[in-house]
Amino acid sequence: MRILAIESSCDETAAAVLTAPFELESSIVASQIAVHAPYGGVVPELASRHHVEAVVPVVQQALAAAGRTLDDLDAVAATVGPGLIGSLMVGLQMAKGIAFARGLPFVGVHHLAGHLCAPFLATPRPEFPFVALLVSGGHTGLYEVRRVGDIGCLGTTRDDAAGEAFDKVAALLGLGYPGGVAIEHTAAGGDVQRFALPRALRGRRNLDFSFSGLKTAARLTLERLDGDLDDMARRDFCASVQAAIVDSLVEKSRWALRQVGARRLVVAGGVAANGALRLALDGLRASDGVEVFLPPLRYCTDNAAMIAVAAAMRRQRGESDPLTIGAQATLPLASTS
Ligand code: KG4
Ligand code: ZN
Repeated sequence: MRILAIESSCDETAAAVLTAPFELESSIVASQIAVHAPYGGVVPELASRHHVEAVVPVVQQALAAAGRTLDDLDAVAATVGPGLIGSLMVGLQMAKGIAFARGLPFVGVHHLAGHLCAPFLATPRPEFPFVALLVSGGHTGLYEVRRVGDIGCLGTTRDDAAGEAFDKVAALLGLGYPGGVAIEHTAAGGDVQRFALPRALRGRRNLDFSFSGLKTAARLTLERLDGDLDDMARRDFCASVQAAIVDSLVEKSRWALRQVGARRLVVAGGVAANGALRLALDGLRASDGVEVFLPPLRYCTDNAAMIAVAAAMRRQRGESDPLTIGAQATLPLASTS
């Protein structure tokens, strides 16, 4: 079964071809970072317009790179939400149009379920059930995943997402958008203890996250320094911020695993690309004897390969969605919360 998947929920136009369940034949991502960078964040109206321009060539490239044509497809999939509504509609309508014209089944995929499926693009692959730490730019949470489509929420962020915290601190430092990678680069070799920054909601039973206090503490620290930030202080500041975020993520993951009695942790979303987080997860592996599954770096941030995997899992259970399905700006991931 061969699936074409399209992702356009934010500022990446992406398409992938996959033979179910996990044989990826192509994955093309057209990033709009250059379009939005001057504004310090994604401008929804511009994002939609650029998706309209990019979606056909991106699908053509994905088919060409896989050495396939529309004749070779057995199903078409697209992200239906959550995300920017105008952006979502472009990829969704393209996919539904192909499904309609070709008489193929259509599968609508939850964007975060897609992120959770990215680790299946590497080996060894996780087995269900597992605990998932989802850390993206718009979302941070811990989930008990029995299978795709049967997911319980263990905790979410009460304010900012982890990626958003990286982005906001990067903006304070004038490091540009998106900020996670910039903070990671600037932090290299820095002293994580030089600046004392808070780790919120540390109680063991509490699996929620909060990053707004960290953001405020970071801002106040910078104000106190009053612009007097040499290269070394800048490096140590970024290292301290990164450590505060990573500590919270790893600590809560540890308690989630213990609470559920799980031995497998899947980490996904853009922030899963962070080297300091990956290193700290190695520590968790060693100290708690858990298996940790991460996506290959290029499938941490938004892409269509992960959407294709999630769609393949649903198709294998015989599931599909009607062509009347609409885009959803907000869409819960968990069946229980
Ligand atoms: O999953 P994603 O591509 O988009 C959403 O669905 O939100 O995540 C983007 C987020 C941004 O906030 C970005 O700053 C963050 O992931 N990010 C990183 C790194 N690479 C991307 N954060 C920390 N370290 C990184 N290396
Ligand atoms: Zn995403």
